Amino acid sequence: MDKYNKNDPASIQSMFTSIANNYDRTNAILSLQLHKYWNRSLIRSVVTPASPKDFLDLCSGTGEIAFTYLKQAHTPCQTYLLDFSEGMLACAKDKASRLHFPVTHQLHYIQADAQKIPLPDSSIDCATIAYGIRNVKEPGLCLQEVLRVLRPGGTFGILELTQPSNPLWRFSHRLYLNTMVPLLGRCFTSNQAAYQYLCNSIQSFIQPADLKGLLLNKGFHEVKSISLIGGIATILVAKKSL
Ligand SMILES: C[S@@+](CC[C@H](N)C(=O)[O-])C[C@H]1O[C@@H](n2cnc3c(N)ncnc32)[C@H](O)[C@@H]1O
Repeated sequence: MDKYNKNDPASIQSMFTSIANNYDRTNAILSLQLHKYWNRSLIRSVVTPASPKDFLDLCSGTGEIAFTYLKQAHTPCQTYLLDFSEGMLACAKDKASRLHFPVTHQLHYIQADAQKIPLPDSSIDCATIAYGIRNVKEPGLCLQEVLRVLRPGGTFGILELTQPSNPLWRFSHRLYLNTMVPLLGRCFTSNQAAYQYLCNSIQSFIQPADLKGLLLNKGFHEVKSISLIGGIATILVAKKSL
C-alpha cells in the first residue's frame, strides 16, 4: 500500500500536518498562482447578494477560502474553518492574526472530520470545500453532512482539481502532473511522497459529472458545474431546497 492512502485517513491527516508550514508557498508554485483566481471564482459563485451570515469552509487548510470570503464580506458574519489537521489550523490562525479582520467577522476553528461535522442542523447559510473532497474517504458522507448543517435554501460550493475532457489537453495535463509536479515537489518541499499522492489523487478521483450525480443523489438541487481552464479545475454549486 502507498505511504499515503485516503482509505487510511490517519495517513492523510499526518501528511497534511507535515506539509502545513510550506503549503501556501508550494501551492502557489505548483498551481502557477492559478489557485488565487479559482478561489475567488468559488467565492463569487456561492456568495449571493444577501451575503451569508454563517459561512463554513470544510477542509479549510491554511484558511485561503475562508479569508477570500471574509475579505469581500461587508456585513457581520460567523466563519467556521473545519479541518482535521491541527497543523493546518495553526497556520490558518497565524495567518488570520496578520490579516486583521474587523471584530464583526468572527472566526471559529474546528478540528474535526468533514464526514462528521460538529455543528447543529440547519445552522449554516453557505458551505465550501476546496481541493478537499477528493481526499475524503467517503465523499457521500461529507455531502450528507453538509446538507444537514445547511439552512433551507443554503448554498454549497465545491472546488476541485479535475482532468480535462479534451484528449490533447488531458494528455498535456497528465504530463504536467506526472513529470513537473513531482520535480517541483522535489525541489521545493521536504515531502516528495505527499506531492506524488496529490497528483495520484487528482487522477483517480471521480469525474465532475459523477460528483454532480452524487450531489443530486444526496438531495441537493439546482446543481451547476463550472469548468475552469478547460477542466483542470471545476466548481460545482448546489442548493439545499427551501
Ligand atoms: C489540499 S488541502 C486544501 C486546503 C484549502 N482548502 C485550500 O484551499 O488551500 C486539503 C485539506 O483537507 C484536509 N482534510 C482532508 N481530509 C479531511 C477530512 N476527512 N476531514 C477534515 N479535513 C480533511 C487536510 O488536512 C488539508 O488541510
